[in-house]
Amino acid sequence: MTAQEKSLLYNLLNKADCLFSGKVSSDFQHIDFENDNDSVVEQNNVQAQAGVAETKGSPHAEAEAEIKKIALSVAQCNKCILSKTRTNTVPGIGKIPPIVLVIGEGPGADEDRTGEPFVGKAGQLLDKMLAAIQLSREDNCFIANIVKCRPPANRTPLPEEAQACANFLQAQIDVLKPKMILAVGNTALHNLLDTTAGIKKLHGKFFNYQGIPLLATFHPSALLRDESLKRPAWEDLKLFRSKLLEIVPDYQSSYLNGGSD
Ligand code: URA
Repeated sequence: MTAQEKSLLYNLLNKADCLFSGKVSSDFQHIDFENDNDSVVEQNNVQAQAGVAETKGSPHAEAEAEIKKIALSVAQCNKCILSKTRTNTVPGIGKIPPIVLVIGEGPGADEDRTGEPFVGKAGQLLDKMLAAIQLSREDNCFIANIVKCRPPANRTPLPEEAQACANFLQAQIDVLKPKMILAVGNTALHNLLDTTAGIKKLHGKFFNYQGIPLLATFHPSALLRDESLKRPAWEDLKLFRSKLLEIVPDYQSSYLNGGSD
């Protein structure tokens, strides 16, 4: 059994105990569970969450295996308090190696439940935004977040939480070697570029992130809240596409729309 599964079960049993006995959740001791050593199930769960295809015979088997290893470390991480309330870790998903790495903020409720990034309403909009410039998680993008566990009530991750998770994203970037990075929203912008300037000021500009061109645009959740941001976001995406065409002139041929065309 994985540590996550044990923790989930423990929390459920405690909740049931509270219901029947009138105890409160703070009556229960916090336990840092550990993965069973021989847990094949755990490996499989994490590999499924890592969202990478079977490695055998793949020309990118080494990178795929590294990404799985990172996902496994994420699943075992309890460096910050977000690990105490998560259901699933959300390491990231997509094509290995990708042409583009998309970086968001952190998992929400749907992502916490499924272990996949950007699967809720904002995720559906993100997929549409990417498709508009011939990108998709199935064909040529990898999607990750600044933090890999859901902040309670979807609050913005605290600096120490982002810091505790930074090595995982760095390791992913080192393995994936994307040609460009699309940062969506303030949290990605602030943590990647070490700035406090807002996305309204810095969107649509190119930055050099460890030698990789990075452009920041609005988070799809912001677009869902404020329709007027859709036009500037589209302008940003067109700039991103132009730059990508300079770097990878035939990138659009990798786009098969997730196989649905
Ligand atoms: N918002 C994010 O920033 N990331 C997700 O994975 C989902 C919603």
